[in-house]
Amino acid sequence: MPININPDLGNERPFSVAMLKTAPCLDRAKPMRHLRVPSEETQQWLDFCRKKRWIMPSAGVLTLDDGLKGIPILDSAPDEGNECWQGNSIITAQGLTRGPEHWSERLNDETLTEIIDILPKSHEIQGDILMVKIDQSIEEYSQEIAHAMLEQFPSIRLICADKGVKGDFRVRDLLPISSRDGNTSTRTKIRENGQSIWTDPAKAYFSARLSNERIQNLTSAKDLKNKLNRKLGVCDPYAGVGPGIIPLVIEDDLISHCVVGDLNPDAFELLELNFHELISNNKITGKKLLLKNIDARKWKNTIQELGQIDLLLVNLPHDSINHLPELIPLLSRGSLTKIRGWAIIEKSELIDFEKEIIDILNHANAEIKSVNSSEVKGFSSTKIFMRFETEQIIH
Ligand SMILES: C[S@@+](CC[C@H](N)C(=O)[O-])C[C@H]1O[C@@H](n2cnc3c(N)ncnc32)[C@H](O)[C@@H]1O
Repeated sequence: MPININPDLGNERPFSVAMLKTAPCLDRAKPMRHLRVPSEETQQWLDFCRKKRWIMPSAGVLTLDDGLKGIPILDSAPDEGNECWQGNSIITAQGLTRGPEHWSERLNDETLTEIIDILPKSHEIQGDILMVKIDQSIEEYSQEIAHAMLEQFPSIRLICADKGVKGDFRVRDLLPISSRDGNTSTRTKIRENGQSIWTDPAKAYFSARLSNERIQNLTSAKDLKNKLNRKLGVCDPYAGVGPGIIPLVIEDDLISHCVVGDLNPDAFELLELNFHELISNNKITGKKLLLKNIDARKWKNTIQELGQIDLLLVNLPHDSINHLPELIPLLSRGSLTKIRGWAIIEKSELIDFEKEIIDILNHANAEIKSVNSSEVKGFSSTKIFMRFETEQIIH
């Protein structure tokens, strides 16, 4: 679907990495004693009470009328009138207590004792969906676990059991367990680098852990634009729902045209939706866009922009190197181009990794300017997740 538009770009957006942790909620709780102090003296009195071990653990400071604050104190602290309080009064008020630090503390004691050794150790959040791997042996407690999690994380709508990845497009097999409002749809909006993006973890690949890589796409594109001294043609043929390419297309004066696709029809539907929202919010102007639900290796037969791509993203980590030869024909001829790609390799393959890329470029009659690769840390403990970036002129 070719789209030609003339939108107006907004200001440059500050980048921030998606927050995966949700703060536990503060609950109104039982009445407790509070030392009433002038707001500007709060810190000094907090320090004093802490030193004396009189602070009520896990309770917050209350904001009272007339610029006063209430510091929660234990029953063991001295009564009003004691000279240590220097005339400040003590009141009894509903305390502001911090809820449990961990969701499992919200399970009843019997359940917790029963499953404590097999409790899920981690979970992942995308938008308002929390995905958790629950050991088969404690599946009967799934509902209780989900309720405890919904109570713990107020911004979560849906808890899903994560049964691993499935199918050619490596999407998660998710089983909704409990929903806050009855809506069990796995479609959700994530926020990344200041941008809202639709995704669906049960239908499309998306990983918040690669957010930094996507920030670097922008840095790398700007570097190429400076070297070429003109706007770029960019291609992201494995775009998923679009998180890698969106920061580039919304950037002012960076790209002139953009070719974007994904073979997974469900991911493509979300990709289109995300681009339509960008267009209707006037976040893209004067850029030629081509979106297609096709195999990346077929772009070379289908686009007029063939040979007009300056920056190519190759994000199919299990197959990037295999696909690379069929993508190179997309690159501009006679001028500097860049490839930024990601690959998952065995540790034993590391030594030959760059050589393999160099061979592919040589075979495509490229004048190689640079080939750099480095490990993306902390991705997998068994295999190596590599980023590679090349600069070349194809003749
Ligand atoms: C690792 S994901 C990357 C998605 C996206 N770029 C991101 O950063 O989240 C790889 C994507 O390639 C798509 N894909 C798999 N095989 C493909 C092919 N032959 N041609 C085009 N897309 C393909 C998958 O559906 C998936 O969305």
